[in-house]
Amino acid sequence: MLILHFIGLAMGLGTSFAMLFLGIAGSKLEPAKGREFMLNATAILRMGQIGIVVLLITGLYLMTPYWASLGEQPLLITKLILFIVLSGLLGVLSSKARKARKGDAEAHMKAMVPLGRLILLTALGIVVLAVMVFR
Ligand code: HEM
Repeated sequence: MLILHFIGLAMGLGTSFAMLFLGIAGSKLEPAKGREFMLNATAILRMGQIGIVVLLITGLYLMTPYWASLGEQPLLITKLILFIVLSGLLGVLSSKARKARKGDAEAHMKAMVPLGRLILLTALGIVVLAVMVFR
């Protein structure tokens, strides 16, 4: 299950890094082409969504021995809360991407850059917390 947890992690965090680097590549194109490039690149958000679901399912299973002592583990509680925050942020980003694909891409895509950075930072924070809790 931990192996599957790590595969979910690779898919989730991999999506964040991919979006960061695709964003850098897109910013070097002329604005209209860059927007189209990024709109197409949002297809990769599906991988992030699958990664989050895999993390949740395997994480819930891995939690089996820890539920009883959850109250005494503030870092673990923080990790779980950050996970909920992360899922919400990814939901907002995906919905903005969907709206941008339907039209008025410029307006919808503005918020996507800071959102993407926030998601990456949150995911990195969760990894650090997980290692602090379990190592
Ligand atoms: C973005 C979301 C998540 C990330 C980045 C993440 C990351 C990690 C990492 C890096 C580890 C390994 C820590 C180590 O062995 O040093 C780990 C273990 C673990 N994770 Fe997650 N995790 C996420 C979501 C979740 C969720 C939602 C749950 C529970 C509902 C969960 C429960 C656990 C548990 C219980 C372990 C310890 C397994 C063990 O060794 O007994 N994780 N996680």
